[in-house]
Amino acid sequence: MSDPKFTPRVFSGIQPSGGLTLGNYLGAIKRFVDMQDQGGFETVYCMVDLHAITVWQDPADLTKNTRELCAGFIASGIDPEKSILINQSQVPEHAQLGWVFNCVARMGWMGRMTQWKDKAGKNSENASLGLFGYPALMAADILVYHATHVPVGEDQKQHLELTRDIAAKFNHDYKVDFFPLTEPVIEGAATRVMSLRDGSKKMSKSDPSDMARINMTDDADAIAKKIRKAKTDPEALPSEIKGLEGRPEARNLVNIYAALNDQSAEEVLRDVGGRQFGEFKPMLADLAVAKLAPISGEMARLMAAPDEIDRILTRGAERARAITAPILRKTYDIVGMVPPVAL
Ligand code: AMP
Ligand code: TRP
Repeated sequence: MSDPKFTPRVFSGIQPSGGLTLGNYLGAIKRFVDMQDQGGFETVYCMVDLHAITVWQDPADLTKNTRELCAGFIASGIDPEKSILINQSQVPEHAQLGWVFNCVARMGWMGRMTQWKDKAGKNSENASLGLFGYPALMAADILVYHATHVPVGEDQKQHLELTRDIAAKFNHDYKVDFFPLTEPVIEGAATRVMSLRDGSKKMSKSDPSDMARINMTDDADAIAKKIRKAKTDPEALPSEIKGLEGRPEARNLVNIYAALNDQSAEEVLRDVGGRQFGEFKPMLADLAVAKLAPISGEMARLMAAPDEIDRILTRGAERARAITAPILRKTYDIVGMVPPVAL
């Protein structure tokens, strides 16, 4: 249960480090829209450009990808009037609180993060310091809003546990009850969308094979082709969940269908159990095209007016800073930093 002392506030972020995938949409953005529309929360959604540069980004690509991500948010149903929509670098309090958290978090905590281990690989000596400190900045993104709820895909669970550890250590060290212990929101039928080529690997924008993922900018033909060629097994679909055990590719396609159609996997199997993939794949392709084509069309329309996107982000940053500046100042006060005075 969240602490009634804090305003119910949602924060989440996505890296503008490449195009959006179906994994981002079902695991994250679709949930962002739900939380915006269900009411009862203030919602803040962020393009985390400072996180993106923890690995090399070509500057022109970073600019384009940030605007495209913003277009993806809006095309999917994030309303910049209802939600605060920002890019991280325009709200300096993220990086400022991030520094304080670099001094709260311990090296050992960071070294245990699986995303760090995966991304740095064997060559960690050559990874950026920013990549190692990534989770402390992520904690700052969340806590600089005193956010109470964070919708994410399954892969971010460990980072959110670390966010709670940082909040708890800060509160303990300074003997305050200042930062909330944020609740992760990892829900829905597709919290972990897998590669279409290998059911043991996450669908990712960085997968070398484009056939492994559905991009939010793919056209109807590309979507249909990728689903037709998706790896499956020769068995028919089961009518109950336990029949998906040991069949990761089948499970993945059923989960994708369920999430796109706002159903549970159980409900989907009740309808399609007994069918062969030769029959199910075209159903999935039709559903995916029906749900995704309007979003990619709207993204293309928005991308044709980048000035309008830039205005939305500037306005979002202004609204965000009304929340973040007082929380950062209060943090500095707690830490003992002398404030500026009127001259
Ligand atoms: P990223 O693209 O790594 O910045 O991820 C942004 C958001 O999308 C995070 O909440 C991730 O957990 C989520 N996400 C990314 N890939 C997937 C996936 N394959 N399945 C479910 N959620 C995902
Ligand atoms: N680490 C997240 C990812 O790669 C992105 C992110 C950065 C984020 N800051 C965040 C997600 C704050 C939720 C809340 O997917």
